[in-house]
Amino acid sequence: MQDGQTTSGLDLLVLATAVGEGGGGEGGRGRRAGIESGIREAIVDGRLPAGARLPSTRALARDLGVARSTVVDAYAQLVAEGWVAAARGSGTRVASGGAHVAVRAARAQALTPPRHDFRPGRPDVSSFPRSAWLAAARRALRHAPDEALSYGDPRGDPGLREELAGYLGRARGVRAHPDLVVVCGGFTQGLSLVGHVLRQQGVTALGTEAPGVVHHRAVAAEAGLEVRPVPVDDDGAQVERLDELGVGAVLLTPAHQQPIGSSLSAARRGWVLDWARRTGSVVIEDDYDSEYRFDRAPLGALQGRAPDVVVYAGTVSKTLAPGLRLGWLVLPPDLLDAVVRAKARRDAQQGALDQLALAELIRSGAFDRHVRRMRLRYRARRDVLVAALAEGAPQVRVTGLAAGLHAVVELPAHGPAPSEMAAAAAARGIAVHPLSRFWYGPGACPPALVVGYGTPPEHAYRRAVAALVALLGGT
Ligand SMILES: Cc1ncc(COP(=O)(O)O)c(C=O)c1O
Repeated sequence: MQDGQTTSGLDLLVLATAVGEGGGGEGGRGRRAGIESGIREAIVDGRLPAGARLPSTRALARDLGVARSTVVDAYAQLVAEGWVAAARGSGTRVASGGAHVAVRAARAQALTPPRHDFRPGRPDVSSFPRSAWLAAARRALRHAPDEALSYGDPRGDPGLREELAGYLGRARGVRAHPDLVVVCGGFTQGLSLVGHVLRQQGVTALGTEAPGVVHHRAVAAEAGLEVRPVPVDDDGAQVERLDELGVGAVLLTPAHQQPIGSSLSAARRGWVLDWARRTGSVVIEDDYDSEYRFDRAPLGALQGRAPDVVVYAGTVSKTLAPGLRLGWLVLPPDLLDAVVRAKARRDAQQGALDQLALAELIRSGAFDRHVRRMRLRYRARRDVLVAALAEGAPQVRVTGLAAGLHAVVELPAHGPAPSEMAAAAAARGIAVHPLSRFWYGPGACPPALVVGYGTPPEHAYRRAVAALVALLGGT
């Protein structure tokens, strides 16, 4: 707008749509209603915050191609309803207070982390290596050719793919050629891409671990796959059941079952690879937290034994931060082209700057140093938790401790239900999930909590454990 009084072009676009919708045969009245509801919606969903200035009635009328009186009437109605306030000399502004404040407060509440955060599946983001990341990003940007900032290969930055191939080969035993690596938006996007491609290729059902991550089942379902439960025990997923399940692919967490914590036994590893070859099926290996194995050498990736039938998937969500939204797939050659096409159609490629920074972080050795430091820290946390529970809540049993960032805490059968415990915890500012959140398929869920000990910030960890133990000690 030429008069400089608009709030933003985006909001006017929304208004234009609203006016178009409200217009119809109702003429000025419909257009007025369209303007009113467009502004109300923008206020409610936070696009127009308290204090934001609305365009002048003249400017908005001109932009929307309506009579000025229509806008004047719409503003008057919004003033009467308390959404906006008109002040002499400073135009019309979004009022403070009212429905939008309630909406924003609810949002702020949802985003406020609990005082003691034991939600599983999260690392300690306060330990993100900010200085190392900044240094890597600065070096990477200084040396990157201009071309690196343009549209690039949908698989991702070639330098990052090369670093990842090297890292995964050395640290995880993955057989990764850089050409077969696709950098994606975390594991979530990787699963979605592979899910859509498998569906296109005629796969209709996916086996997923039960218990397992609800979100991943939803992602697979959104890709059009029917999800069928593969029960889990102390040897990992019961892959011997895959034949009877009639699925064309299976999603597994072989190194560290989420949430139980077991790893896929050697016998089952062999079995599932035979099954995939025998039936022409695909195994998706979710290697989400394998960097954190504490008491013995890490198990190599399943993909290293069968790169032709295993899709390997990794993420920085546990090693660096989930907010980065960076992950990778290492694909069997015959899935590569379709996945690359799906990635290109979806969002062209992952953001260049973060890819360049991650490549440099790995290249410089800072990534390995960070992972080693965090491994020691998380192991110490695990030991603190186990010792504190043994002393303060001896009636609970802790399992799933060999690796990862969470433990399963089994509650006494006669005590309060885990969901009641989680609610009682929430009342004390402690966030912890009942195992039932992960449960689906046959069988009753054992009474247990899943405790993500990676999540609290380092300085607050012991206090958080004390609060949790005090709660559990009373069961
Ligand atoms: C089993 C499992 N896989 C993968 C992830 C990471 O997903 P993403 O890379 O999309 O953050 C998580 C996060 O909690 C997880 O629990």
